[in-house]
Amino acid sequence: MTAVLVTGAAGKVAGMLRPALAGQVLRVVDTRDVTGWDGADARTGDLADPGFTATAVEGMDAIVHLAANPHPGATWPELRGPNADAVVTLLDAAWRAGVAKVVLASSVHAVGGYVADGLPAGTLLDPAWPARPCCTYGSSKVFAEAYARSVADGGGPSVVCLRLGGVVPRPTDTGNLLGWLSPGDLRLLVRAALAADVRYGCYFGVSANTRGVFDYANAVTELGYRPESDSEAYAADVTPGDGGLCRWRDERVAVG
Ligand SMILES: NC(=O)c1ccc[n+]([C@@H]2O[C@H](COP(=O)([O-])OP(=O)(O)OC[C@H]3O[C@@H](n4cnc5c(N)ncnc54)[C@H](O)[C@@H]3O)[C@@H](O)[C@H]2O)c1
Ligand SMILES: [Zn+2]
Repeated sequence: MTAVLVTGAAGKVAGMLRPALAGQVLRVVDTRDVTGWDGADARTGDLADPGFTATAVEGMDAIVHLAANPHPGATWPELRGPNADAVVTLLDAAWRAGVAKVVLASSVHAVGGYVADGLPAGTLLDPAWPARPCCTYGSSKVFAEAYARSVADGGGPSVVCLRLGGVVPRPTDTGNLLGWLSPGDLRLLVRAALAADVRYGCYFGVSANTRGVFDYANAVTELGYRPESDSEAYAADVTPGDGGLCRWRDERVAVG
């Protein structure tokens, strides 16, 4: 049995992930009250607060870091605390406490610029390509990935960054068809990431979507991820849209 800390445990993704962590010793934290994690050690606090975070990571073998501002339209003042300060505080605390592994939620917005500018037909987006965020939120995720790399390379916890696509029960628009991550595949991916022997890696978190543009082959070979869902099953039911990806880029100057 492994002791796992789940951050952002009151959030949407955490709620979908929860069944995958049954059987582990769980501690769950959020700035909001956490409910639904029966048997877990639930704590309320801000991960940007070093005092709170030092006690939150104590005794943990692994961390699934989901806490963040997940809104692509968010401004830097809104993102700086949850998406930058909290990442540094958490990874530093995990390092000091001897935590072995961190699974870090990143986002396809870290590379959304490639999609916004149009990929040549048939080209899959390679996770090794340079970051190309479509928004300030995506840039904050690139920072998180970079800080995590410095920690992992420096001898701190190993880190698996998962650039999650749209994690929703079912795709709702055509954009979702490109980067959907089903709740079932989310559970498979995070379990695989927790079990993998990888010092640092960055992977797209998407299902096996027929129309997918994110290459998840390294998650298959390095993590042992075997996705089971395909957004194509819903293609006839979705409406035209962008799946939430990149639409903020052109509005950024307007929103600040
Ligand atoms: N939902 C998606 O489709 C999606 C897609 C790509 C990436 N992600 C990433 O996955 C993670 C979870 O996203 P979500 O959709 O569940 O978001 P969410 O807002 O539902 O959950 C995030 C939780 O983190 C908590 N939180 C924020 N800042 C905190 C802090 N400083 N200290 C402690 N708790 C804090 C919030 O209170 C919230 O409950 C985020 O990192 C997000 O960027 C989500
Ligand atoms: Zn974006």
